[in-house]
Amino acid sequence: MGDRSGEEPLLAVDGLSLAFGGVRALDDASLAVGPGEAVGLVGPNGAGKTTLFECICGGLRPDAGSVRFAGLDLAGVPAHRRARLGIARTFQRVEVFGELTPVEHVLVAARAQDARSTLWQDLTGRGSPSRREVEEAMALVATVGLAEVADVPVAALGLGHTRLVELARALAVSPRLLLADEPSSGLDTGETAAIAALLRRVQRERGTALLLVEHDLALVRSAVDRVVVLESGAVIADGPFAEVVGDPAVRRAYLGRSA
Ligand SMILES: Nc1ncnc2c1ncn2[C@@H]1O[C@H](COP(=O)(O)OP(=O)(O)O)[C@@H](O)[C@H]1O
Ligand SMILES: [Mg+2]
Repeated sequence: MGDRSGEEPLLAVDGLSLAFGGVRALDDASLAVGPGEAVGLVGPNGAGKTTLFECICGGLRPDAGSVRFAGLDLAGVPAHRRARLGIARTFQRVEVFGELTPVEHVLVAARAQDARSTLWQDLTGRGSPSRREVEEAMALVATVGLAEVADVPVAALGLGHTRLVELARALAVSPRLLLADEPSSGLDTGETAAIAALLRRVQRERGTALLLVEHDLALVRSAVDRVVVLESGAVIADGPFAEVVGDPAVRRAYLGRSA
């Protein structure tokens, strides 16, 4: 992992704390993700996983602690600039535009990243995309397995496909770090396995680092190299999957309570 070996991790979260009123959502939490590394973030409901993502993306400002990305301290860096630095995310509750197709989602995301274009222009159809842009978007849509429904409005697709649209959109900007918040939530076993395989492929082929919040431990095991366990906002374990799930404190905090 990182800082002591002299090589700076891609993402370094150090001593993050954040309280909502009396609730300590994050309590001195630290973790690191190396370049191209896949890390799972697990823990019971309310452990602070989504809050941690928000602090990394810039949606929430921590009370204490720091987030560094590629050597840069992100304090004061707004969310849209963090995205341009290479941090992409998917949401626990899908957030898509029902009337847009998968290809359009990718095109809008790719263009929003481009400083010369405006979201408004894209949404109103002005400055229509070049053939190359469309081809690239189609290729990405195919990569996530949506080629057959590339031109179908997302409102007509099921949740499994919609989650893949979110992933394609996140990948449209070629992020260096992908934060995926429960990408298998609401999916069946087949769809979940497809997401796991896709995340692995993206990490291997594109070198994208991954921080994966996920309840499905089979998905976590197949998609990541290392697992960080959060409980009541604090990191209680950090290590290889097998080691971490065998840890009695982890079993008490997490495995014992779920399912
Ligand atoms: N915007 C908010 N306002 C108040 N409390 C919040 C807010 N967001 C999260 N919380 C609380 O912070 C804690 C951590 O929540 P969250 O990060 O969503 O956990 P997880 O994603 O691990 O389930 C929970 O107790 C939750 O109720
Ligand atoms: Mg959450």
